[in-house]
Amino acid sequence: MSIYEEMIPYLLHWYKYNARVLPWREDPSAYHVWVSEIMLQQTRVEAVRGYYMRFLDALPTVKALAECPDDRLMKLWEGLGYYSRARNLKKAAGVICEQYGGVLPGEVTELRKLPGIGDYTAGAIASIAFHKPEPAVDGNLLRVLSRVSGSRENIDLPEVRKRMAAELKAVMPKEESGELNQAIMDIGATVCIPNGAPHCEDCPIAHLCTAYREDTVSEIPVREAKKARRIEKKTVFLITKGEKILLHKRPASGLLAGMYEYPNVPGHVVKKDVVETVMAWAGEAGMGFAGDATSYVTAVTKEGTVVTKEESTKHIFSHIEWHMNAWRVTISDEAETGVSGTAAEVPVDGYVWATEEELRTLYSLPSAFSKWDVFEKGTD
Ligand code: ADE
Repeated sequence: MSIYEEMIPYLLHWYKYNARVLPWREDPSAYHVWVSEIMLQQTRVEAVRGYYMRFLDALPTVKALAECPDDRLMKLWEGLGYYSRARNLKKAAGVICEQYGGVLPGEVTELRKLPGIGDYTAGAIASIAFHKPEPAVDGNLLRVLSRVSGSRENIDLPEVRKRMAAELKAVMPKEESGELNQAIMDIGATVCIPNGAPHCEDCPIAHLCTAYREDTVSEIPVREAKKARRIEKKTVFLITKGEKILLHKRPASGLLAGMYEYPNVPGHVVKKDVVETVMAWAGEAGMGFAGDATSYVTAVTKEGTVVTKEESTKHIFSHIEWHMNAWRVTISDEAETGVSGTAAEVPVDGYVWATEEELRTLYSLPSAFSKWDVFEKGTD
């Protein structure tokens, strides 16, 4: 009997009494499992809970998701990050309605064809919702398998991942494959943790674990060294006029595609250069800040209290870090800016003035930009 086969009954028994209580486990239909797995791809379980409940309240079926307007979808996803996940969910929902009568397929090969569904998610859906013996292969699973077997193979190598997955698949119990995958997810998240010392004293398979026995848990799994994230400096302008704040709609592709942001430029701009930079940027952006620049400059520099420093902040994406400085620029009510329109009319790479209410309900602002309370007064 292989060590994987040996560990399975212990994991299933442990899961029966120690499974985390999570909303998507209450009624694990394929749609529910799918939505939860997509949300969990890059986001912690605790952060996902609330989003998951709200999302399913708003979009209880595949059809409702397929028909959801983009802006509403982005608003439901706001704060979760990695927004292409939401766009792919909707795209896949369209395909499921057209090709599968609104019901998710149960085969990994069919699931894999849907936008946004990779091996891990396909394995999770097939096992949890359809009881197919398919492993959900991610860092958690590979860590647990490496430690229990004492393997020092590099788990970032595709051939190593494939072989471990195939070995587990060969011994997976059919009816309880979903429980087994979720047991490993929970063990990986709470006991056999990735950073810091694992809680081997609480582990139901410690007595089988090679790394535990040989005291090598801190050396296993073996992984490729992570590349350092690229650091990008940015200066963000919180440009307000009366009760409104200026928003920019990002390009349709790339990072945070199609989301709204506060206008920003690369690099860190110091106070004395703020007005000049805003003017240059506005000109280049075709903002049409009204008429002659001088009236605008006069407006922003009036009384010397209109350019104020806001808190600096960092935002971490998977491969990039934004180090952001921010300036609040208050434009006089009289200055004409040539920007108007409503959410539905804002073109990609376009600008719009938004009220507090509109910012809350209409425009999806990613977390990178939600650190400033723009409708509060700044400090100098
Ligand atoms: N992480 C990814 N998928 C999960 C699931 N279904 N339950 C708990 N944690 C997870």
